[in-house]
Amino acid sequence: QKNGYETFMEKEIAEQPFVIKETLRSRIEDHILMPELDDLAMEDIHAIYMIACGTAYHASLYAQYLGREWLSIPIQCVPASEFRYGNYPVDEHSLCLFVSQSGETADTLAALKACKKKNAKTIAVCNVLDSSISRIADTTLYTCAGPEIAVASTKAYTTQLTLLACIMLKLAELAKVEVNGYDQLLHDVKALPETIESMLGMEEQMKEYASFLKEQHDAYFIGRQLDYVSVLEGALKLKEISYVHADAYYAGELKHGPIALIEEGTVVIALATQKDVASKTISNIEETIARGANVILIKAKGVHSDKIAHQIEIPDIHPYLACLPATILLQQFALWSAKEKGCNVDQPRNLAKSVTVE
Ligand code: M6R
Repeated sequence: QKNGYETFMEKEIAEQPFVIKETLRSRIEDHILMPELDDLAMEDIHAIYMIACGTAYHASLYAQYLGREWLSIPIQCVPASEFRYGNYPVDEHSLCLFVSQSGETADTLAALKACKKKNAKTIAVCNVLDSSISRIADTTLYTCAGPEIAVASTKAYTTQLTLLACIMLKLAELAKVEVNGYDQLLHDVKALPETIESMLGMEEQMKEYASFLKEQHDAYFIGRQLDYVSVLEGALKLKEISYVHADAYYAGELKHGPIALIEEGTVVIALATQKDVASKTISNIEETIARGANVILIKAKGVHSDKIAHQIEIPDIHPYLACLPATILLQQFALWSAKEKGCNVDQPRNLAKSVTVE
């Protein structure tokens, strides 16, 4: 049931504060509570692989970033469709983490089976109880997003980000790593439901920005570091439901090719929530403006440029969590672009909710 919303996607976007709260239930006190991982001997782990598809792959990229910051173990994120045919040195000292909303994605399932055969330790992050992936993995941790009906993943993604942040904090604890700013981070994780709730009120602004795409066939998303993960997801959301061609680039890569695409009126959605690299992103943005780009900037407090006409600020939050509020804005942007174009938001063409065949 759509509970009065016009589409399932709108209902699912609105449910995010609640499902994030559910995902965090009994997970946080003054440290992360994750008894499922208590027996994991991190000293035996020599490599970590994160394996998933589509939006779940983007969530894995987020976890990979945190893992690189905190763990001194090599960590690699690979799309499942590549992993299953690639030659990765997986063995009993590998920890393989599979992220899947449905728990039924064919490529992810095949990659999991291959890793089990090589005696790797396997952990799944799933949303569907008793799904194939959750039954085969050694351990499954569940997101509590509830049924996601719209093909475009929204609440499954943000609950994955939330749970993966907790999982990576738990792995750091098991590896006896001291995480810088741990208390602040934990505080901001706990506050995520309220932070996300406050983002829902920004819909009108994103609706106005989405109207910039009315006459456009392309949109370019740019960001650095964790913002790159968010722009990948923002571009995927936009293309899958509104059929606007959308690409995501590392902001610093623009001048190595993509900037050739920028002309008068080109829509560029830029993210600068990572303060330590924000000034670099701002100068990349200004280069696109000099070539006529119409830029929408999603930024953290304190990041500034007078040259950018359209700016929207996310609430004050630990930079490792900034992608959650930023993602809500990008979901609304894609949603309203699709609605404006009269697209079927819940059932985009050529796509299935669960990709159970290769
Ligand atoms: O069920 P899964 O999380 O394994 O699905 C993986 C992808 O097919 C999925 O995330 C897809 O990219 C999204 N529906 C896009 O919004």
